[in-house]
Amino acid sequence: MKILVTGGSGYIGSHTVHELLNAGHEVVVMDNLANSSEESLRRVAELTGKQAEFHQVDLLDPEGMKKLFRDTRPEAVIHFAGLKAVGESAEKPLWYYQTNVAGTLNLLYAMEEVDCKTIVFSSSATVYGEPEEMPLTEKINMDAQSCYGRTKEHIEDMLRDLGASDASWNIALLRYFNPVGAHESGRIGEDPAGIPNNLVPFIAQVAVGRREHLNVFGNDYPTVDGTGVRDYIHVVDLANGHLKALEYLASHGGLHTWNLGTGNGYSVLEVLHAFEKACGKELPYKIVDRRPGDVAVSYADPSSALADLGWSAERDIDTMVRDHWNWQKNNPNGYEA
Ligand code: NAD
Ligand code: UD1
Repeated sequence: MKILVTGGSGYIGSHTVHELLNAGHEVVVMDNLANSSEESLRRVAELTGKQAEFHQVDLLDPEGMKKLFRDTRPEAVIHFAGLKAVGESAEKPLWYYQTNVAGTLNLLYAMEEVDCKTIVFSSSATVYGEPEEMPLTEKINMDAQSCYGRTKEHIEDMLRDLGASDASWNIALLRYFNPVGAHESGRIGEDPAGIPNNLVPFIAQVAVGRREHLNVFGNDYPTVDGTGVRDYIHVVDLANGHLKALEYLASHGGLHTWNLGTGNGYSVLEVLHAFEKACGKELPYKIVDRRPGDVAVSYADPSSALADLGWSAERDIDTMVRDHWNWQKNNPNGYEA
């Protein structure tokens, strides 16, 4: 199948492009390179022996998007492109709504024009907000607590309305839990700009000597050791979930929503200790105040994805941190030479 991947040079995108090429798909990547570099795709080509076609286009350029679709005529889209930093979204809400929501609108118009009506969208577990019940099932109402999360809610709503208006659209909303890790080769991985917001990239930078210590945001949560619990998922398992969703959409129309998580929760200190084991050294940390907006516990009920897609995460927490460390130690400054 010919698949257009928006945001395909980014973290999850590049791993998904790798899996798509290996599975024999033809891949077109569009990205404005705001938070990635073409180096990731060069390395994907080196790993797979196959090349994705790259177009530097901005989601916010409606004519550029339409031209891209007219020129490339994909059969399906996987839509990763967008902005994802929770803190930044509170400071620049209009930029987040414009890029994520209006950018997706431009994408959907461009798809409609060439009758490309299959889309897999990167949503997030963040849409669940702070529900009491665990694990999180897809039935729980959305109640995002950040501007970033609300952009995901708006896009989901837009896609639901679109699907309801025209049954020829095939739509998958994938709600990711906490993606970590890297391809086992250590050639592609997560390369955050500036100070990492997320736990595992921060720990990796402590391990490689770029940061002095980890700040643990609170140890007074009602959890196993007082620190926050999350459902970490290996990025390659996550990437494979997209291939399964595409396969499903090829034979089932309509709109479908799936959690992509492992169903297991690990605390901050459990992740830190797993990383210490992987890198073979103790990593310094300090307990600091809770981070505003954090929930105590979040983990998925991934049973719908198993039942419908035959997908489940295969890689455990030790594999996740081993692969993340392998990427970080081989690329201490990310894709920068
Ligand atoms: P990423 O930043 O590595 O990838 C996003 C890509 O989109 C980047 O390559 C960036 O250059 C591109 N982009 C940004 N604005 C663009 C624009 N206007 N036009 C074209 N391209 C643009 O992020 P990621 O971690 O790979 O996340 C991919 C998707 O998954 C995002 O939509 C994100 O919200 C979602 N998601 C990520 C996580 C996570 O923890 N990484 C969790 C849940 C959901
Ligand atoms: C965060 C975002 C969420 C987004 C997700 C994936 C917030 C409030 N939530 O989720 O919207 O979908 O990333 O990008 O930002 N931690 C530390 N020290 C650190 C970093 C994190 O102790 O330096 C702790 C956190 O308190 C949390 C856990 O580690 O308990 C995981 O944090 P993180 O990786 O940022 O993911 P989420 O908070 O789940």
